[in-house]
Amino acid sequence: MKVAFCGKGGVGKSTVAALLCGALWRKGYKVLAIDADPSPHLGRLLGFADEARLKPLAEMRDLLAQRAEKAGPYYTLNPRIEDLPEKFTLTKDGLKLMVLGAIREAGGGCACPEQTVLRRLLSYLLLQSQEAVVVDMEAGVEHFGRGTVVPMDAILVVTQPYRGSLETAKQILKLARELNMERVLVIGNALRSPEDADFVAQTLGVKPVVSFPEDPEILKAEREGRSLLEISSPSQEIAGRLVEVLEKLA
Ligand SMILES: Nc1ncnc2c1ncn2[C@@H]1O[C@H](COP(=O)(O)OP(=O)(O)O)[C@@H](O)[C@H]1O
Ligand SMILES: [Mg+2]
Repeated sequence: MKVAFCGKGGVGKSTVAALLCGALWRKGYKVLAIDADPSPHLGRLLGFADEARLKPLAEMRDLLAQRAEKAGPYYTLNPRIEDLPEKFTLTKDGLKLMVLGAIREAGGGCACPEQTVLRRLLSYLLLQSQEAVVVDMEAGVEHFGRGTVVPMDAILVVTQPYRGSLETAKQILKLARELNMERVLVIGNALRSPEDADFVAQTLGVKPVVSFPEDPEILKAEREGRSLLEISSPSQEIAGRLVEVLEKLA
């Protein structure tokens, strides 16, 4: 399965992405976590001590430009990317991490080399049944314009029970519909009460597939700089349920 996390900044995309990676990994999946946030920290949440050593792929401009060679005025749509996952990946206990870094913004329909390579890379990562790619997207909605999310099996929209993040979630749901993406699931995060859950469902007109509570263990782990794979809390079980939801889609 290939899934991407979207939503407003600070809603918990990286947190829930890390919890999902952990749940998949415990179930025996081979997991490739891709951090596409311009200020990456998914590696820290997954306990990669040497994350800083990993050069973000998007910073390798020369390499990307070389791969996305120009054919006339356009970049080729099929750049060679087969060896990139090996070169730009850290591995720990069977869990893999790739850091994309800041993807350059493109103007109307332009296919600049970074995007061409990255989109192709996401399409290329064709998976066996027990393999998963989990992408932690940049906050906001820009990547929908770029079509980077199109090769995904499911888009997971994380929202908290407040208007700002729900507005972003709504926008994402609308853009996804326009791109004819059907598998767009809402995840509630940091809920404090059943009223919070109702507020999310009512505002979006969609019921979240799972919701995570506001979790003191998550807060504690983040403050102590500990991996979220180690925490013991109900959030782990909820992440396990999210795996089941995603397996049913496949
Ligand atoms: N369910 C939760 N309970 C408690 N704290 C949370 C929860 N989800 C996220 N956080 C905290 O909120 C902050 C933002 O989360 P993060 O995953 O970095 O958001 P994003 O990736 O969407 O910007 C982090 O400090 C994180 O520890
Ligand atoms: Mg993040």
